[in-house]
Formats: sequence, structure tokens, C-alpha cells
Amino acid sequence: MGTDTADMSGVRPGFAPDPGVAELLAARPFLSADPVAGLLAEGVPLNAIADEAGTPAWVISAGTLRARARRLKAAMSAADLDVAAHYAVKANDHQAVLHILAAEGFGADVVSGGELARVRAAGIPAAKVIFSGVGKTDAEMDLALREGISQFNVESAEELDILSGRAVAAGCEARVALRINPDVDAGTHEKITTGVAGNKFGIPFEEALALYRRAHGLAGIRAVGFAMHIGSQILSPAPFRAAWARLAMLIREARAQGLAVEVADCGGGLGISYRDETEGSPEALAGALRRELGDCGVRLAIEPGRWIAAPAGILLSTVILRKAVAGGAPFIVLDAAMNDLARPSLYDAWHGLVPLAPHLLRSSVTEGAHLVGPVCETGDTFARDRRLPALARGDRVALLDAGAYGSVMSSTYNSRPLAVQVLVDGDRRAVIRPRQATEALWAEEYVPEWLSSRPE
Ligand code: LLP
Repeated sequence: MGTDTADMSGVRPGFAPDPGVAELLAARPFLSADPVAGLLAEGVPLNAIADEAGTPAWVISAGTLRARARRLKAAMSAADLDVAAHYAVKANDHQAVLHILAAEGFGADVVSGGELARVRAAGIPAAKVIFSGVGKTDAEMDLALREGISQFNVESAEELDILSGRAVAAGCEARVALRINPDVDAGTHEKITTGVAGNKFGIPFEEALALYRRAHGLAGIRAVGFAMHIGSQILSPAPFRAAWARLAMLIREARAQGLAVEVADCGGGLGISYRDETEGSPEALAGALRRELGDCGVRLAIEPGRWIAAPAGILLSTVILRKAVAGGAPFIVLDAAMNDLARPSLYDAWHGLVPLAPHLLRSSVTEGAHLVGPVCETGDTFARDRRLPALARGDRVALLDAGAYGSVMSSTYNSRPLAVQVLVDGDRRAVIRPRQATEALWAEEYVPEWLSSRPE
């Protein structure tokens, strides 16, 4: 190692070395190394899943989803807080995931008519659904009004007026929280920061009270409170506290003006440990909620997504080949690509890698390598200059922490069918979505008749 370059050794200046396989497994209780079967997810050998379902394959652990959902709720109860937990469906919208979280008492935070229909299909009552998002179409508003959802998080004066009109036309009342942009930097990746001035999200803090007053007088609107969501993958409680302190201030000022406030929706954003970060703590989150909003006399809500789902999922993949590079690190080409897991190409996200085979799990041999997919873009890179187990053609690997913003962000770019999804639950396993058939890629495409009639 001593003669390796800083990059090749996995030791970047100022950074600790990348965690090895043993450390990655120790931090992920549903994964374990069996000396005979290789990598297990709960009680299920991942090699068996790869044999049966092929790769790339998403695997999601029901036990992990339940355990994390329960820890989050327990943290809120321990802080003596009655908090309505609305799972942010965008993180992983699979029906099985929604069923598991609904059974844990979670409601849903949705951002489209599609998500609303999905959660209703999963049996989540409309009374537990919040509709967020910066632009809801008329059709989406009408659907949500018909369903009778518990709350619209409205993000602009323009949206408030449109919703008022739709509600009056439908002869009903929309319960509305105004989403406020507190102008607090969440200290996360710029593409997933949402609460600073200049983002498209929310109503500027200075305009919040005036608009809330107006909302109280609008036909078809029942103004119930405020919402904030400052970003995602937030590891420190400090930005949450700063934002919620502003939320508390707003609640007090609104009440001082005689305006009723029933609800404070505190958003999602709690981060996880992808590499060696200290995971965001639900207990610290609950403590911050209690300190900043505990004595406001409002119903609290949260919208967690990533913290619950990300660590519960992995992406299985097979090494197609090793491409040697004269004088440099080889490219390890996987059968998974950016169309499957987009996070590394979009956000330079770091995802851990663990091999499936027992001999690789036992081995301490590593090498500097680049991990890439087969898609025709340089951005189709999972890891550059990473210290990885020495992988050969045919070896299988698990990319970790892919349960949130993984399968939901997949595309069929390069005509790559959507990968199979498998659920493990104790010793049980089930395909919860088959691999998309290749013909399904064009099954809904039509060639106009004038193009298909060939000249004589
Ligand atoms: N509430 C609202 C209004 C949101 O926009 C989001 C996420 C959440 C809740 C859930 O946040 P979470 O607890 O999951 O951090 N694709 C990106 C993440 C985008 C997050 C978008 N909004 C990624 O892969 O990192």
C-alpha cells in the first residue's frame, strides 16, 4: 500500500481510508457473511437470489424497513412527542414497501397524482396523506380533493389561488399548510438542498405571514399550519434546529395575529451513513423537535424517506469483465449501470460494495480499480479509484444502501429493461417485480401506418 498513489489506495487527502468489507457489514445488521453460502440478506443467500432471478437485481429487506420504522417512532415517543410519520413515498414507492410501512402506522407524503394513487392502492387512508411539491396540476389537485387527503403543502401564492378555485368548484375545503423556505443551508449536496433562498421550493420566510393571513380568508381553503423541508441526507441536527426555530417563530407570530395554527410539518431529510459518516440520529431529531417545537401546542408531522429505506436495499450485480489499463487501475465493468442506480452519476454518491462469494468475503486482497457500468456515457461510473476486493469476470457484488432513490430513479436508457426486485423477510424471499421483458421496452410504441407501408 505504501507505494500506491493517494487515489489508488483509496486514501484521498484529508479522508480516512474507505471502509473494508468487514466494516461495511458490521454497520449493516441485515447483511452477514456465511462461510458456505456467502453473503446473506436476513436469512437468505444472495447467491440463490442471483441464481434464480439473475442480475442486476434489487433486494429489499422487510425486516430492516420495519426495524427502522419502529426506531423512528420509538425515538419520537421516548421524547414524549406525538408525531405523525408520513413516509416520503418518492424514496421507494413499491407496493410491498408501502404495505410494510402502512402496517407500522405510517402515513404518506406524496408528490404526484401517481404517488397518491399508489398509496391509496396500498391501503394507506387518504386521511394520512400529505401532498407536497412545487407544482401540482389541476387534475392532481382534483384527485386529491376527491380523495379527501389530510393536507396540501402549498408552495406559492399562485398555487394557493389555484387550489382555492379547484376546491370551490369541487364544493369542498382543502386543508392547507404553507411550505416555507427558511433560508437555512442544510449542508448537503447542492442538488438535494431545498431550503435556501433561490431554490424553487417554498414561500420566502418574509412573505409567509401575509400569505397565511390571506389563506385564512380564502374560499375553499382551511389554513392549518406550516411545513418545512430543507433538504436530504442531512447528518447534523443543527440545520434542522435552525429551520424549526424559524418555524416556531412563525407559529407564534401567526397566533399573535389571531390566526389559528394546528399543524407543523417538519419535513424529511435525515441522512444515513453511506461510507463512514455518523448516521443521522432519530433520537437527536426527536430532541431537536422537542426543543424547538415541543411547547408550540401544534400537531407535529415528519416526512422521512431515505433514513427508513436506503439501508434496507441493495443492488446485486455481476462483473461482466475486467478491462485492463496499461499502467493504471483496471475498469471493473458490471452488468448494472447508471440507468439502474443513478445516484453515483448524478451526485457523485459513494455506495459501498461487498462481494457475494464466500472466498471473496474471507479474502483481504484488495486492489485499486474503477467500477463502471456498460452504458455509453463516462458518467456511468459507480466508483473511481476505489480500493475494492479483487474482482474477476463472473463475480457477483452487492452495491449497498440502494433502498432509497434506487429503483425509483431507474430508467430504460440504452434499452436496458428495468431490473427484477426481490423482497427478503426472515428466511422468506419473493420476486416483487419481475425483470422487465425486453419486448416490453417497445410494446407500447406505435409506428404510424404511413411509415409502415413499404413502397412497392
Ligand atoms: N419531503 C419532501 C417535501 C421532499 O422533497 C423529500 C425529498 C422528502 C420529504 C424526503 O427526504 P428524505 O427523508 O428522503 O431525505 N434523489 C436524491 C434525493 C432527493 C430528495 C428529494 N426530496 C438522492 O438520491 O439523494
